[in-house]
Amino acid sequence: MATPKTFHVKSFGCQMNVYDGERMAEAMAASGYASVASERDADVVVLNTCHIREKATEKVYSDIGRLRKGKPNQMIAVAGCVAQAEGAEIVRRAKVDVVVGPQAYHNLPRLVADAARGAPALDTNMPLLSKFGALPARRRVGPSAFLTVQEGCDKFCTYCVVPYTRGAEVSRPFDAIVEEARALVGAGAQEITLLGQNVNAWSDGDRDLGALIRVLDRVPGLSRIRYTTSHPNDMTEGLIDAHRDVESLMPFLHLPVQSGNDRILRAMNRSHTRDSYLRIIDRVRAARPDIALSGDFIVGFPGETEAEFADTLSLVDEVAHASAFSFKYSPRAGTPAATMPDQIAPEVMTERLARLQERLARDQAAFNRATVGKRCEVLVERTGKLPGQMLGKSPWLQSVLLENGPPVGTLVEVEITAAGPNSLTGVPALSAAA
Ligand code: SAH
Ligand code: SF4
Ligand code: F3S
Repeated sequence: MATPKTFHVKSFGCQMNVYDGERMAEAMAASGYASVASERDADVVVLNTCHIREKATEKVYSDIGRLRKGKPNQMIAVAGCVAQAEGAEIVRRAKVDVVVGPQAYHNLPRLVADAARGAPALDTNMPLLSKFGALPARRRVGPSAFLTVQEGCDKFCTYCVVPYTRGAEVSRPFDAIVEEARALVGAGAQEITLLGQNVNAWSDGDRDLGALIRVLDRVPGLSRIRYTTSHPNDMTEGLIDAHRDVESLMPFLHLPVQSGNDRILRAMNRSHTRDSYLRIIDRVRAARPDIALSGDFIVGFPGETEAEFADTLSLVDEVAHASAFSFKYSPRAGTPAATMPDQIAPEVMTERLARLQERLARDQAAFNRATVGKRCEVLVERTGKLPGQMLGKSPWLQSVLLENGPPVGTLVEVEITAAGPNSLTGVPALSAAA
């Protein structure tokens, strides 16, 4: 194979994969490879993959097939959670050139060079020494940036592959995070979203995530802080207090619940109950009354009866989430739930998902409508489709469309003038007053 010169990274799955994809691109650039915008022009395509549901994994194999047909000599590197889960199996099954896991991608440039000389190029190690120390510093980012502070999961929900693909829970050290946050602000970020599979399990000594947020709040130039994804059991008093006290901590909490039924939650090994979830929501709302709540839901977990599913619907009614993600249960090889009896028929799952999504959409539309007429700050993140249109985010993570909006990177006071199911329209407050 000729020595590759250009690369393109394509990330699937969660926000942590987006972050990892950026850092892989930075590592490749630091080793002399040039990033290209289209996968067609790339000598190396890096597929940064997700293994969470069957569809996500299948997508990888169909993508590899498509790439192979398009440009036979292109090098294909598989990174991310499918790389970790399948390892050498992907090389056998799909003849890819490089396989690199989520804890080993600082080695991607070397693996690409190895593959170019025909040497085996597979690294799915989970080294004790963190990849972060081996990655180049952040250089240029948009107004809203991700920062991984915690990785891995020790919770072992019975349906989930993440503890196997990402490894054990590890918190990055406090100093390294503060340093990266400063670097991100220097590179253009005004908003930072702290990432972790269980981000609120982050700790360093006696500091919890709430304490970290209080320190980041004082980083000059950093206007907004967010974090995701949290687990109900790691929702500390300190973090809830931060929602009351820290102005730059945005009023938004993504707190997956999965089901509203205690028997199902036990079978999922969620280690929280319906009631303990609802009590956390009460405490968070007491601390920050305008907080927007979000959640994840799974329908059709093995053995879920209609009555048990109805408990999920009633929990939704009780909480009124501002947004949510909901999924059909997908059996994953190697997880305990995959071999549980009473797997639910696909058509039952489809029907339950439709009923759940109808309620979630109702609550999201109501939440969006309630912001009409309010004023809030919007961080402008990108240009819209038509000339003059700009897109940004409200404090509650809603997309806001501004006609004749200010440039990318502006934090602007906006009056919300209209709401749709998935976004808002606003007018900069100065022109609204004029
Ligand atoms: N660590 C996070 C995110 C995990 S993956 C958390 O615990 O919340 C994101 C979501 O995918 C989960 O919250 C869950 O709703 C969904 N999910 C995970 N495994 C799944 C499976 N096997 N089938 C369907 N949905 C799944
Ligand atoms: Fe998966 Fe559960 Fe861990 Fe979330 S907490 S990553 S759902 S095992
Ligand atoms: Fe997918 Fe791995 Fe994220 S399985 S959701 S990319 S942690």
